[in-house]
Amino acid sequence: DYQTLSEKSKQYLWNPFTQMKGYHEDQPLIIESAEGVKLRDVTGREYYDGVSSVWLNVHGHRVPELDEAIKEQLGKIAHSTLLGMANVPAIELAEQIIRVAPQGLQKVFYSDSGATSVEIAIKMAFQYWQHKGKPEKQSFVTMNNAYHGDTIGAVSVGAIDIYHKAYSKLLFRSYRVDYPYCYRCPVSQEPSSCGFACLEQVESLLTEKAGEIAAFIIEPVVQGASGIITMPSGFLKELRKLCTEHDVLMICDEVATGFGRTGAMFACDHDGVTPDLMCVAKGLTGGYLPVAATLATDEVYNAFLGSYEEKKTFFHGHSYTGNQLGCAVALANLKLFHDRGLVADVADKSGHVAERLEAFSSLKSVGDIRQRGFMIGIELVKDKATKEEYDWQEKIGLLVSRRACELGMILRPLGNVVVFMPPLGSTVAELDEMIDILYKAIEDITEKGVKTRGEG
Ligand code: LLP
Repeated sequence: DYQTLSEKSKQYLWNPFTQMKGYHEDQPLIIESAEGVKLRDVTGREYYDGVSSVWLNVHGHRVPELDEAIKEQLGKIAHSTLLGMANVPAIELAEQIIRVAPQGLQKVFYSDSGATSVEIAIKMAFQYWQHKGKPEKQSFVTMNNAYHGDTIGAVSVGAIDIYHKAYSKLLFRSYRVDYPYCYRCPVSQEPSSCGFACLEQVESLLTEKAGEIAAFIIEPVVQGASGIITMPSGFLKELRKLCTEHDVLMICDEVATGFGRTGAMFACDHDGVTPDLMCVAKGLTGGYLPVAATLATDEVYNAFLGSYEEKKTFFHGHSYTGNQLGCAVALANLKLFHDRGLVADVADKSGHVAERLEAFSSLKSVGDIRQRGFMIGIELVKDKATKEEYDWQEKIGLLVSRRACELGMILRPLGNVVVFMPPLGSTVAELDEMIDILYKAIEDITEKGVKTRGEG
């Protein structure tokens, strides 16, 4: 029963991104099953999966086609290694990924999480320049408040102090430039007509340092974990141009934005950009199993070809790389994308979501509403006129999320930003119900003084 499970969870589990002291004092949510876009806990209560189980669920849960794909693959084999050999679903999936990826990406290197796909991109970029006879190109450029995962290389190109500062001595140094955060633009009073003033930083950095820079890593179109910060249209294209001009590899981290999340198959597609390396994970398996991939152009791939003695091999690989069950469900997932015209459908439904979100601006605390497709961030402020922030100790985002949970939807905030990322397959009726809960949760906490449970 709930009590026993709760006690055991406190005895044995150490949860990610969780202050366990708060967890111990709390009554943790324990999920047992799901149906469609709703999760069910062990007490039988149901909740909309309002953040797609940390941004990865696509068609909902227990999708018959996806369940079936795994069962069918189980009848053949669950896993064999990809080191020096191949397997059927890994090959077929690579072909399908390349089909939908931005034109020019030609090769798929598998791994098992967003963070590992980033590690791989970093190592590939670093080694690429050695093979190209420019070993002095060793540094990376990242963007302020970037998040690329929690392993040491990914943290080295991360730039969110609360997650990353504790490890600073462990990390390699990266150059940082601003992400265009137009709501709080440090550069221009008029972000809409500034002509991308913050690009000047990038240009001057690359002009001065390109000789020592291997790659520039970017969360294209939406910077996720920093609070769903959206790039103005056309900005990514300018970054691509600058990278090309200065002979710096462009790595796009599409772990969060990939597979339809922003209303295009990939965020890069909005600006017609092809990066040199691209990281994908999360939505690749529809939210079922941990498969990730780093995609590369032939230009990058070819630099690693050579005789055995030349030692140009990319010496990297994980035990579960190319896992058959994961690849089989990813294949079924991509087939559903195609059969259901899901990307166009998301683009369509996001128009409806945008209309519904307009009403949120009348809430006193809603400072900024940012949306790209089904990636939505609502920034709550103490004072709309001055954009004064809530103190982090007020945990305003957390309180709103807790209230939403009481009202029947699971949310997970980013500081004062309420994050809403419904599964892409949500129907308009389901979206409407979720948006009603979202509205009420914000209103209850910031205007009606409703108290919500516990600490955490
Ligand atoms: N890259 C990007 C752009 C991501 O958004 C993420 C995860 C990763 C890489 C890492 O992928 P993974 O290794 O987890 O498969 N920590 C925040 C939420 C982060 C959202 C997940 N993004 C939180 O505490 O809510």
